[in-house]
Amino acid sequence: TFVVTENCIKCKYTDCVEVCPVDCFYEGPNFLVIHPDECIDCALCEPECPAEAIFSEDELPDGQEQFIEINAELSEVWPNINEKKDPPDDAEEWDGKPSKLQYLER
Ligand code: SF4
Ligand code: F3S
Repeated sequence: TFVVTENCIKCKYTDCVEVCPVDCFYEGPNFLVIHPDECIDCALCEPECPAEAIFSEDELPDGQEQFIEINAELSEVWPNINEKKDPPDDAEEWDGKPSKLQYLER
């Protein structure tokens, strides 16, 4: 399965949702997640993310392991998203900032 990780928080570019063949992205206030039971491991979304926030669960960067559980949990409660929308006005400013997990809105 593929996992959305920390750098998506407050960037939320949504390019990823357009390419997913099974529409398995779910949207929160400032972050997206992938439903682990719906993802078919096609890898199409990974290169689409301008923030490089999507990884295979087998290739997660150090410190991002907790996002496996976060994606699993929040994809059960957030609504589906399958069309790109405008990112937050300050998305570029937040791209690459460390320790963004504290800003995750549920
Ligand atoms: Fe969708 Fe494929 Fe990305 Fe899984 S790997 S979330 S199926 S685009
Ligand atoms: Fe987030 Fe990247 Fe998609 S920033 S919304 S995972 S394109």
